[in-house]
Amino acid sequence: MKKETNNNIALNFNTDWKYAPAPESTDHIKLKKKYDLFINGKFVAPVKGKYFETTNPATEGKIADIAEGTKEDVDIAVKAARNAYENVWSKMPAKERAKYIYRIARMIQERAREFSVIESMDGGKAIRESRDVDVPLAASHFFYYAGWADKLEYAFPGKKPKPLGVAGQIIPWNFPMLMAAWKIAPALATGNTVVLKPAETTPLTALKLAEIFQEAGLPDGVVNIVTGAAATGAAIVNHPGIDKVAFTGSTDVGKIIQKALAGTNKKYTLELGGKAANIIFEDAPIDQAVEGIVNGIFFNQGHVCCAGSRLFVQEGVADMVIRKLKDRMETLIVGDPLDKNTDIGAINSKEQLKKIESLVQIGINEGGDYYQTSCSIPSKGYWFRPTIFSGVSQSSRIVQEEIFGPVLAIQTFRTTDEVVEKANNTAYGLSAGVWTDKGSKIFKVTSQLRAGVIWANTYNKFDPTSPFGGYKESGVGREGGLHGLSPYLKMN
Ligand code: NAI
Ligand code: MG
Repeated sequence: MKKETNNNIALNFNTDWKYAPAPESTDHIKLKKKYDLFINGKFVAPVKGKYFETTNPATEGKIADIAEGTKEDVDIAVKAARNAYENVWSKMPAKERAKYIYRIARMIQERAREFSVIESMDGGKAIRESRDVDVPLAASHFFYYAGWADKLEYAFPGKKPKPLGVAGQIIPWNFPMLMAAWKIAPALATGNTVVLKPAETTPLTALKLAEIFQEAGLPDGVVNIVTGAAATGAAIVNHPGIDKVAFTGSTDVGKIIQKALAGTNKKYTLELGGKAANIIFEDAPIDQAVEGIVNGIFFNQGHVCCAGSRLFVQEGVADMVIRKLKDRMETLIVGDPLDKNTDIGAINSKEQLKKIESLVQIGINEGGDYYQTSCSIPSKGYWFRPTIFSGVSQSSRIVQEEIFGPVLAIQTFRTTDEVVEKANNTAYGLSAGVWTDKGSKIFKVTSQLRAGVIWANTYNKFDPTSPFGGYKESGVGREGGLHGLSPYLKMN
């Protein structure tokens, strides 16, 4: 009998994969032309009357005018949050607080489609991701933390956990809705009130969330949303009425915030950058690992702090992995974020595109072996094709610096000790991935990697019950899970 081999299945990945357009409809989306600040349960004009534009990075078109909050507005918001904390929220029985949080979770689910489309319009991410990842996970964070609200004594046995007061929260543009949920849900569950600032390029889902807070009847002032850019964020960090700062963003800004908070009584958590190692051993399931590499670096245009941006492949399989990876990359569709077939949407802003382009140019100048896919990209908007560099060295800037785009730096290794040393040779320590058939190797390697989150035989998987956070310059503290409650509590 003739033995069947895989060669019989002629897969030609290099054909141009064409799908009919399948855009998500935007008819049902209700957006205002102008958004004010959300303070004390109402939308109010900013004191100084200034507005800025938020645009759609896939079309470069303006979506809406957004209020630019100043120090004065932050002061009003912090006072509203303080008043709500002292007179309403901290006095309310925990199980009553939980009801509001559950209600918010359910309302996000009911309006999931609307939120997904707005997230993709404002930030450029593929609808498949906002629909299947960001929005459902945002709802599940509210559900998860709602469950803890009246069980805090069980979370911390023998302690009497008490809220801190007013939390000032500053979030980035890569997961706008999900980061709002990561920040707001544990703060509310622990009895704190909130002043939150979304990123300037992606404020819309946080403002739509404010509409949900109104509809849910959340007491006035419990959550306040103050839009604006760096100066607005700094006004929140430096306001004396803030008891805790929660920040997610760049390591540079994280350092500024940490300096500003030194010597104050404010608690803080910082979720900063990353340069994760994704490690493929020779005995790994190679096809799954290739999917994991793709998911690790090309997911959300590589705008992911825990992106698997450094790939380490064991020498014996390196050629095969790189060949399969290139084949798979050629099938990735870059384009309209609202199209359901799109794998890679728009780069979030012109500034971010410039940053990616300049780091890739540095990689080319440094002499790395460079490969970029040949897919077509729209003529308008901000786009970057999936790109890999192989043959790079530990000292290359593209190996050391966070690019925050769909760009992968590939190195090879021979031994476990060698790869652990290389993987740990970074200023960051947020996440890592290990691919091998051997459970014992997973335990050996993961126990030596200095990273807060490590995936084994998978990548970029999130769950509200798992803590998330980094070592070294990747930040301070943990969010998510039981660990995510304590930064919002004082214990005695
Ligand atoms: P960023 O750190 O400047 O922005 C994050 C948030 O902080 C935004 O809401 C921003 O308005 C606010 N902010 C900026 N300066 C502030 C200040 N002095 N005080 C208080 N708040 C402030 O990040 P940016 O400029 O948007 O991106 C630059 C680079 O940072 C990216 O290329 C990427 O490498 C990295 N980044 C990392 C993120 C992560 O999750 N680790 C998220 C966003 C960016
Ligand atoms: Mg925008």
